[in-house]
Amino acid sequence: MGRQANAGITQTRPGGATREQAAPGFFAPGPRPPGSLHVVAADSRYASAELDPRPAAAARARRLTCQTLTRWDMASLTEDAEIIATEIVTNAINAVPPGTTGLAIVYAIHATPPGLRIYTWDIGPGHPAPADPAPDAVSGRGLAIVNALAERWGWWPTPASGGNVTWAQLPAPA
Ligand SMILES: Nc1ncnc2c1ncn2[C@@H]1O[C@H](COP(=O)(O)OP(=O)(O)OP(=O)(O)O)[C@@H](O)[C@H]1O
Ligand SMILES: [Mg+2]
Repeated sequence: MGRQANAGITQTRPGGATREQAAPGFFAPGPRPPGSLHVVAADSRYASAELDPRPAAAARARRLTCQTLTRWDMASLTEDAEIIATEIVTNAINAVPPGTTGLAIVYAIHATPPGLRIYTWDIGPGHPAPADPAPDAVSGRGLAIVNALAERWGWWPTPASGGNVTWAQLPAPA
């Protein structure tokens, strides 16, 4: 398994991450020291899926989002949550190096008192970098869309596995 340094973060590839490295604890909200795991308590309002780095992954994330939010009585958030899911999962697919095998993308949603948190972890190098696209540019708009829809959003690196978690929060339904 080759390792390469990237912006001070050790990336492991092409083998993908272990399940322990990409456990749901990655998605626990709140500050943490880089690389540490913080385990989310067993919670019926948490749903996640491991996704292949292929275009169909975005549709799978949307399906999980729609079905789960309906079950949680949060269907009013579905449209915005699906758009955010599409943008951050597509970025994750694009970030994963071709030929990566093993776990490469995890998508999760977590209903918390302040709102719905939407997370995508991927093993890819680099990090989310909002662009300032020219009016006629055909790309570079995904994170601007996330920024417009979400109450808050951000990302953090996951040095234990390589890659990053990108997250966004929608306010809880009134
Ligand atoms: N998960 C990620 N890992 C690594 N780099 C990322 C990730 N997400 C975003 N980026 C970087 O941030 C840039 C901006 O992302 P953004 O979604 O705004 O635009 P885009 O993906 O280039 O184009 P568009 O979303 O409009 O098709 C990307 O081009 C990429 O360089
Ligand atoms: Mg994008």
